[in-house]
Amino acid sequence: MRTTARALPRCLLLFACFFLLRSPLLVVAAGDVDLVIDKLKPALQGAAAANAQLATWNASTPLCLWRGLRWSTPAGRPLRCDAAAARANLSLAGDAALLLTSIRLPAAALAGRLPPELGAFAALETVYLAANSLSGAIPLELGNAPALSELDLSGNALSGALPPSIWNLCDRLAELRLHGNALTGAIPAPAGPNDTCDRLRILDLGANRFSGDFPAFLTGFRGLQRLDLGGNRLEGPIPEPLAAMRGLQMLNLSYNNFSGQLPPGFAASSFTTESFLGNSPALCGPPLQQPCVSPSGLSSGSVAGMVIGLMAGAVVLASVSIGWAQGRWRRNRVRRAAAEGVETEEGGEGKLVVFQGGEHLTLEEVLNATGQVVEKASYCTVYKAKLADAGGSIELRLLREGSCKDAASCGPAVRRIGRARHENLVPLRAFYQGRRGEKLLVYDYFPHRTLHDLLHGGGGLEGRPALTWPRRHKIALGAARALAYLHESRHGDAPVVHGNVRSSNVLVDEYFVPRMTEYAVVGRLLVPSAAEAVLSAARADGYCAPELQTMKRCAPRTDVYAFGILLLELLMGRKPAPAANGGDDLPSLVKAAVLEETAVEVFDPEVAKGVRSPAEEGLVQALKLAMGCCAPVAAARPSMAEVARQLEESRPKASRSALYSPAETRSEAGTPTTAA
Ligand SMILES: *[C@@H]1O[C@H](CO)[C@@H](O)[C@H](O)[C@H]1NC(C)=O
Ligand SMILES: *[C@@H]1O[C@H](CO)[C@@H](O)[C@H](O)[C@H]1NC(C)=O
Ligand SMILES: *[C@@H]1O[C@H](CO)[C@@H](O)[C@H](O)[C@H]1NC(C)=O
Ligand SMILES: *[C@@H]1O[C@H](CO)[C@@H](O)[C@H](O)[C@H]1NC(C)=O
Ligand SMILES: *[C@@H]1O[C@H](CO)[C@@H](O)[C@H](O)[C@H]1NC(C)=O
Repeated sequence: MRTTARALPRCLLLFACFFLLRSPLLVVAAGDVDLVIDKLKPALQGAAAANAQLATWNASTPLCLWRGLRWSTPAGRPLRCDAAAARANLSLAGDAALLLTSIRLPAAALAGRLPPELGAFAALETVYLAANSLSGAIPLELGNAPALSELDLSGNALSGALPPSIWNLCDRLAELRLHGNALTGAIPAPAGPNDTCDRLRILDLGANRFSGDFPAFLTGFRGLQRLDLGGNRLEGPIPEPLAAMRGLQMLNLSYNNFSGQLPPGFAASSFTTESFLGNSPALCGPPLQQPCVSPSGLSSGSVAGMVIGLMAGAVVLASVSIGWAQGRWRRNRVRRAAAEGVETEEGGEGKLVVFQGGEHLTLEEVLNATGQVVEKASYCTVYKAKLADAGGSIELRLLREGSCKDAASCGPAVRRIGRARHENLVPLRAFYQGRRGEKLLVYDYFPHRTLHDLLHGGGGLEGRPALTWPRRHKIALGAARALAYLHESRHGDAPVVHGNVRSSNVLVDEYFVPRMTEYAVVGRLLVPSAAEAVLSAARADGYCAPELQTMKRCAPRTDVYAFGILLLELLMGRKPAPAANGGDDLPSLVKAAVLEETAVEVFDPEVAKGVRSPAEEGLVQALKLAMGCCAPVAAARPSMAEVARQLEESRPKASRSALYSPAETRSEAGTPTTAA
């Protein structure tokens, strides 16, 4: 009578009472062990031939050896199966008082169905049957399970509708995962308006065939941290309160048919386009690139046309220079010091501001240079452009229309960037602003050999040079010095935040001198939506400091964090990955290795090669320093000046000799290098 006695009082509180009253449990007073044998086993087994796991659920096997099951005593104490006596006790299976607490058979080739009796186990807390071949419907009676808090049926072939009784589990339920089944129909709402499932942290209904509108009641589930509705057939607008759910850390609404304007709250949230991919073309607004209405009156067609036109060819700037040849510009080249940024020329087509070292550039030369695309970034296209008359090469960054702040706020920002001069920064030499709003940043050209490509391949770097520890240290130190320089406030100038420190923004020359690109662009030039796109790319690649999840502004300490990741990348030779996706981010890998006392193994073998003592060669210090930079709390991170100082102090021994001189590559016979 136990089941009856336990289930009834609760049943009276639940509208699903009715299912229980119909069930045969009221007459069969079976223990959980009998239910497992009589109902659960045959149902899960289905028509399949013998299943090795389920076969252990039999009277000639001691209960403790039944695969995938856990039990407790009526007093709620777990059945201890670690003692040899218990593992050999055949009479336990005859104990009708034992309660089933957990079913855990992932990837166990179960080919049957879920029996209605799954709802009749009074103490069942966990059901984990992911990655099997279970089919049929989710039984309504599952909603009667009084203790169920974690249910994972992902990766099966369950079909039919999700029964509304599932929300009867609300006051216990912490995780509900039904990803990758064939469930259909609308996502049912809970019976009561006050069913807010406060304990539910994870709801994964992704990759099913759910249809209908966004289940608006979910926005009342205050405890939700991860919500995956991706890969269904949901449609209509996304409700405003979703953007205001404070605890939500992961959201996937991709690959449905949602439409309309995204709630404005998402523009300032940490969610990126990743959360909304593959919906109706009518889904618009930040963080999606798709604007809802174009305020300037430009149709999206003409914007696209212009961008495509400009990116299309080797005759890159032809379209910019149309009409230019007829030139109504004044040729008044200014050769005096351009430290403050001198407007050299202003014509009908726009104006060129030159900075120190760019005095020789003329508007005509810049606009008539022929270029080839080197890289396409989210906010700009990068060209290598050849000046006529053997004038050498320059790098042009053509900012995408709408990505840059207006001319008035751009000017001072560009001048500040143009004043930055450091041997480890790619210098900005000029800035062009066309009459139609085109904006070009003109930098010195350096071959596009990025640290990212050097470390992780790609970029067609044949005969990649060996990246020994002294070389990596040299790169790290140069990058640290450049950042320390930017962060310092000089001559009344405010500090400059790089804003996008990452290995693909570090160019490395044949002597392993690093030069950073893209400094200050994100923070000072881009409009918030364009900056957010850069930020979300940085986040996706693991360079984003944790505080940037909530606070959108980059600061010197977020640069320090990103530098810490870059230093770990150099030391470990691994691509950083974000922790948010549950992946292994580099700091966590190091922490885990330290705990397991395998710290030495985190180093890239190429780094460790030839290093006799990691401590003497500064490797250990660099690892500690990098971990300090990646401190989750910004205030705990060192300043870049401190980072540069510490790196200088812990130079590898070898670097004190030839390795730091430009002649280095020649003094190391047998090391292939590429002169790009
Ligand atoms: C009972 O379980 C054991 C394994 O524990 C297995 O070898 C045996 O074949 C099972 N008996 C039946 C009747 O399934
Ligand atoms: C085996 O289990 C039964 C039922 O719980 C119990 O009464 C008995 O003492 C156990 N025997 C041993 C040797 O542990
Ligand atoms: C739901 O909660 C609100 C406020 O907490 C309360 O006023 C209302 O009576 C509740 N409704 C039901 C049906 O319990
Ligand atoms: C979101 O869900 C879709 C469909 O299930 C999947 O393809 C995509 O990878 C998911 N995105 C993320 C970021 O998990
Ligand atoms: C998506 O929704 C739109 C209406 O917003 C509808 O016209 C279209 O047919 C839907 N597409 C699919 C694939 O269901």
